[in-house]
This record gives sequence, C-alpha cells and structure tokens, in this order.
Amino acid sequence: MPGEIDLSRLPEHIAIIMDGNGRWAQKRGLPRVIGHKAGMEAIRKTVKYCSDIGIKILTVFAFSTENWKRPRDEVNYLMNLLTEYMRKEVGTLHHNGVKIKILGEPDMLPAQTRAEIQEAVILTEHNRGLQFNIALNYGGRAEILKACKKLVRCINDGSIDIDSVDEAMFSNLLYTGNDPDPDLIIRTSGEQRISNFLLWQGAYSELMFTDRLWPDFDEKELRSAILEYQSRDRRFGALK
Ligand code: IPE
Ligand code: IPE
Ligand code: MG
Repeated sequence: MPGEIDLSRLPEHIAIIMDGNGRWAQKRGLPRVIGHKAGMEAIRKTVKYCSDIGIKILTVFAFSTENWKRPRDEVNYLMNLLTEYMRKEVGTLHHNGVKIKILGEPDMLPAQTRAEIQEAVILTEHNRGLQFNIALNYGGRAEILKACKKLVRCINDGSIDIDSVDEAMFSNLLYTGNDPDPDLIIRTSGEQRISNFLLWQGAYSELMFTDRLWPDFDEKELRSAILEYQSRDRRFGALK
C-alpha cells in the first residue's frame, strides 16, 4: 500500500500532458473521439481532487498548436467537447472557487467555443481556489516567440530598456504571467516527450511518465505521482 502524501509539501503547480485518449478508444474497438469524451471525465475528477487537497495551480494540455494537423472531424469533435465541458462544468467549478485561465491563442478557435470560454473566464476571475489553466491552441515555441516580439516592440518604442530585461520580466510576458513554474509535469500514455509543452516554465520541473492512458487516470494515479514527487531531491543546480 502506498504511503500517505504529505499535505504540507504539495507541489504548488501541477501540469499534465493528457495523452492516450485515441489509444484508449481503439483498444476497445471504438472511434478515437470516444476516447476524448472519456478523457473529459478524467479531467473532471482531476480538477476536483486537486481542488480538494489544496493544489494552487493545475495546468492541463488540452489542444496543441500542432493538433490542427489532425483530421477535421476529430478537431471539430474536440472543439465541441470543450464547448460542452465549459457549459456543463462552469457552474460547479465556480461553486468550488476554481478560477479558469486559458493559455494559448483563442483566436483560431470556433466562435462558440471562444464565447463559452470567455464567459467561464470572466465568471470565475475573482475566485481564490484552485487556478485551472487550460492550454488550448497552446505551443511552447509560439508562446516564447510571441513574448520575444512583445519585448522587441517595447524596446523599439523605448518603453523598456534592453539592459533591464531579465528572466522574471520575460516570464511575465508568457501566457502563464505571474504563475509559479510547474513543480511537476505528468504525461500519461507511455510517451516520454514534452511535445512543445511549457518549454520555458518547465526548466526545473520534475517529470513523471505513466503508462496509464488519460481516460484511466484517476485519484490513485495522481496520489502516487505526488508521492513520487515528494521523494525526489530538487537541487536546481546547487548541492544538497
Ligand atoms: C490526447 O490524446 C488528447 C489530445 C491530444 C487532444 P490523443 O488524441 O493524443 O490520444 P493518442 O495519443 O492518439 O492515443
Ligand atoms: C500532446 O499530445 C498534446 C496534448 C496532450 C494536447 P499529442 O498526442 O499531440 O503529442 P505527440 O504528437 O504524441 O507528440
Ligand atoms: Mg497523443
């Protein structure tokens, strides 16, 4: 039986690459999109658990800038699912004090999805419970490039002095703004790569890979990831 997690040493920020929905469905002889639907339930449970134990920030990778390469039907299904998730869950999330934030470029999303998201963000913006970041049309490289462009514009118009630019200032220009970096990044489905997720912010994150497919991810799995995190020795380049 796994030990108990130490609630006084929780990761402040957990980020998850929710992978394996398609394979979960295919294993059952079902269309891939059914896996996405099942994955929504895993998101619901994960948010609830993180909120209950007092995690400050949960970031989930929902749709990457590269996922547009998928068949149109799958992309449309994912967008509709997201719209539905927002519509159905926002009441409960708000009730539980969850604050929703979007990381990424919403411009390319369907109008209805954008509207539903915006409503949820505005409704929950003053909440003080779990901050729930949804990385949507998110790419780490696109994010860094966008921050660079902003910075260059400010330097050119004289509002920022190039010599005053430091890591903290640059971080602030990213979608994550003031958020602390993720302490723990979990990827499900057995793949061991970052896939363009939180490239800057993940510089010193503890990485955790599990073979579990995202729709099968549950509280027990998250608890064991937190336990593993608590057994790691984070040195940040220094010595013990
Ligand atoms: C993750 O599951 C969800 C998204 C990327 C939107 P996948 O759809 O990537 O599932 P697999 O990796 O094909 O099994
Ligand atoms: C990463 O999963 C993106 C999300 C979970 C949204 P992918 O399934 O798109 O990643 P690759 O293609 O296996 O690297
Ligand atoms: Mg995948």
